Amino acid sequence: MERLNFGQAQQYTSPNPFALVSTCTADGRNNLMALSWWTYLSNRPATVGVCLSKRGFSGSLIAEQGEFCLCVPDASLREAALRCGTCSGRVHDKAAEFGIVLEPAELVKPMRVSASHLVLECRLLQQVEVADHILYIAEVLGCYGNGDAQGLYAMDGYRRLNTVTEISR
Ligand SMILES: Cc1cc2nc3c(=O)[nH]c(=O)nc-3n(C[C@H](O)[C@H](O)[C@H](O)COP(=O)(O)O)c2cc1C
Repeated sequence: MERLNFGQAQQYTSPNPFALVSTCTADGRNNLMALSWWTYLSNRPATVGVCLSKRGFSGSLIAEQGEFCLCVPDASLREAALRCGTCSGRVHDKAAEFGIVLEPAELVKPMRVSASHLVLECRLLQQVEVADHILYIAEVLGCYGNGDAQGLYAMDGYRRLNTVTEISR
């Protein structure tokens, strides 16, 4: 076997999960961030973990507001969703700039992404500092899906997004 660095190790586990984390400010301004580091954590209660860099805007909004939507976008958002991982909501209104339509969530304040395969509406339970990242553990208050749409996965590490059908070709 070949010796790998940690970035290469992450490419070896690609395709990786992918989602857009939707958060909002106290005055209701919405933000979207690309995220691969998320996982289910428990069934009862339903919880997920999302791991965000300390440097980004989204982590501070989750900590402040205590709520977020985890949205697995469908194939129509392939390019726009990837762009949400290239700039910060501190200076960009990503949904408006990249043409991503949002709609009100049912149980939390941050909006959800309309063109989603899956949406999990989440409330923060706990934060765990992990060096340069923070793991936010959250209860899933509601799950919503569109079975006709295909969700996107991150390929080649985090370079592009594909559907399951495209991956298995
Ligand atoms: C495919 C992809 C996956 C990403 N996954 C993560 C992740 O799991 N955690 C993280 O902190 N950043 C991740 N990023 C980087 C953030 O999306 C990026 O830093 C973003 O600009 C943060 O935006 P914000 O400042 O508006 O929160 C990912 C980027 C891409 C393109």
